[in-house]
Amino acid sequence: MTGRTEAGRKVVLVTGAASGIGRAAAEAFVRRGYAAVLADVNADDGSEVEAGLRSLGECSFVPCDVTDDDAVRDAVAHAVTTYGRLDAAFNAAGIDGEHGKRLADSTMANWDRVIAVDLTGTFSCMRHELPPMVEAGGGAIVNCASVAGLRGAPKVSAYTAAKHGVVGLTRAAAREYAAAGVRVNAICPGTVDTPMFRRSMAEFVDQLIVANPSRRLAEAGEIAAVAVWLCEDAPGFLTGQAIAVDGGATA
Ligand code: NAI
Repeated sequence: MTGRTEAGRKVVLVTGAASGIGRAAAEAFVRRGYAAVLADVNADDGSEVEAGLRSLGECSFVPCDVTDDDAVRDAVAHAVTTYGRLDAAFNAAGIDGEHGKRLADSTMANWDRVIAVDLTGTFSCMRHELPPMVEAGGGAIVNCASVAGLRGAPKVSAYTAAKHGVVGLTRAAAREYAAAGVRVNAICPGTVDTPMFRRSMAEFVDQLIVANPSRRLAEAGEIAAVAVWLCEDAPGFLTGQAIAVDGGATA
């Protein structure tokens, strides 16, 4: 990683910071001493998260829909102009889309939306995050994929394809930018107790807990801890990896 700012502080951009994993990561980065730019399409919840974290450290919320490339550009520019640099990014914004339909029964609208947010949105984020990191001599990007990025998840084919795509983008960018000092990794969470999970999986929670080798769901903070570790503590040689954090499910 690169050195700290003159104020002794690194700067991170977290997308999807208004809820769940992104929200937990925003808090974890701020607690670790980062100045954090919190980006999310949900401005009400994002502002509330910012207000809650301000007593812990430096942070600012920027409204940002990751499907809007100009808005992503502006969020990155906000980090650089407000805090002077961008050392790290955790791209956690995402949606799961329709559930319960086999591929031939699922809609083009669902495909388009899930690919736009989860895959193209991640591409857009990386496209804007990489240049200031390269310019500064290094940085770390962590993309939030899923265990559905490592194996097929039935009845969420668009989500599976998008998350496999996120792993692919991670690997390609890692190879392209390793010599520039930018590490790019993906986290592949399993079942994490977040608002998205509770919305989509409410009727399957008990089954999923029993099926998991760890007999529980992950807490969002456990995924956040890996994101912070990848940006702050991981060895410089660790790049291009898709790390499952799933209680042993894909093992
Ligand atoms: P969540 O729904 O609690 O939080 C997602 C956040 O992303 C929300 O604040 C939402 O407003 C934001 N968001 C959605 N679309 C956006 C857009 N177009 N632009 C900007 N922000 C947008 O969901 P959760 O569970 O925290 O998910 C975070 C990430 O983790 C997602 O990428 C998801 O696919 C991934 N994931 C979650 C798992 C789980 O079990 N909860 C498992 C595997 C992966």
